Amino acid sequence: MVNVSNLERIINKTKKIVEKSREELYRLGETARQEYERTRYELDSVKNQISDLIREVDELEGEYTKARLYLMEVSRDFNRHSEEQIKGAYEAAHAKQLELLSKREKEKLLRLTRDHLERNLKNLETTIRRSEELIANVSMVLKILGRDLESLSVEIGEMQQRQALGFSIIMAQEEERKRVAREIHDGPAQSLANIVMRAEYCLKLMDISPSKVKEELFGLMDLVRSSLQDVRKIIFDLRPMSLDDLGLVPALKKYVEQYRNDCGIYVELTVLGREYPLDGCQAVAIFRVIHEAMTNIKKYAGASQAVIKVEFSKNRVNVVVRDNGIGFDVERVLSEKRGVAFGIVGMRERIQLLKGKFEIKSAPGHGTEIAFSVPVVNNEKLSIGSRRD
Ligand SMILES: Nc1ncnc2c1ncn2[C@@H]1O[C@H](COP(=O)(O)OP(=O)(O)OP(=O)(O)O)[C@@H](O)[C@H]1O
Ligand SMILES: [Mg+2]
Repeated sequence: MVNVSNLERIINKTKKIVEKSREELYRLGETARQEYERTRYELDSVKNQISDLIREVDELEGEYTKARLYLMEVSRDFNRHSEEQIKGAYEAAHAKQLELLSKREKEKLLRLTRDHLERNLKNLETTIRRSEELIANVSMVLKILGRDLESLSVEIGEMQQRQALGFSIIMAQEEERKRVAREIHDGPAQSLANIVMRAEYCLKLMDISPSKVKEELFGLMDLVRSSLQDVRKIIFDLRPMSLDDLGLVPALKKYVEQYRNDCGIYVELTVLGREYPLDGCQAVAIFRVIHEAMTNIKKYAGASQAVIKVEFSKNRVNVVVRDNGIGFDVERVLSEKRGVAFGIVGMRERIQLLKGKFEIKSAPGHGTEIAFSVPVVNNEKLSIGSRRD
């Protein structure tokens, strides 16, 4: 059998690893986002610096042109300008030229920085997008793992339950066969052997004392009649014919009548709601559970009264079987009789198989109550007894 808890452990471990990876991805994404903001801020500032610098360079170029023109002017006219003045003009033009060169160099550097920052920004954008995609994928994996784990364990659980149910159904069937064999062995088989013996006796009697044969034959007829009754009872217990032909309530009525005659316990059968046709399996299961409860009452309860209540509500059939007998400790009996008694266990399993609810209440000295209910599809249009058509 598949070990559900092992499988669960493995999937849970995988989930933990994937969850950790998702956290890691969140962190990476967050770092990339912060880095992106910082880079964008830096890029803005570099761009501002560049435009300031462009303005400065433009201005400086104007000033440099002016200084050069002035130098040309003073250089052309030696006589009107002193050496001092010419030198000053030359130095001023040279200084402007140097300043211009340095600013242009700075502008070039800033442009390089800007390009670098723009590339970084693009890479960061890709990283952020990728991490978001990965987080979405990982979340999906987690979801699938969670969902599959749930459905997987439900499926495996159901499978195991079905296997266990199948096994106990086979056991219950074997028990039922044993019971029927015992009943035939103790009842009709013995009666038949008896009948053969008494028939032989009749034959002998015809030779010895023909007048006694008539009396003996009457006795023999009584025996055959009671054997026939036994056989009918066994057949009814195996499968009440009326269950198929007439429905659950008439079958129960017949059973209760027989039960009263058999064991002298007063049984009250109450039917609430209008009887509607049930699925064949449901009717048999309900009948069997009531039958088992009533058999237990006969065997153990020592009750003087029993009540069977069957209620046909909209979507369920609710049943209560109660007796005023000695009662018993349910927990103790079930744990002691585990694997031995199929009565109560079988009742519960039959009802579980029909997705119904089953409850048994009992305490020594306080009688016993078995209550169960089975969900049904109320198909009132079908008339009872028409299911065979
Ligand atoms: N109505 C009842 N009153 C008193 N005791 C009960 C009643 N029903 C069940 N019990 C007790 O519970 C025990 C278990 O019942 P259960 O029907 O499961 O098994 P069983 O009748 O002993 O065996 P099986 O039904 O397989 O022939 C019984 O042996 C009996 O001691
Ligand atoms: Mg029993």
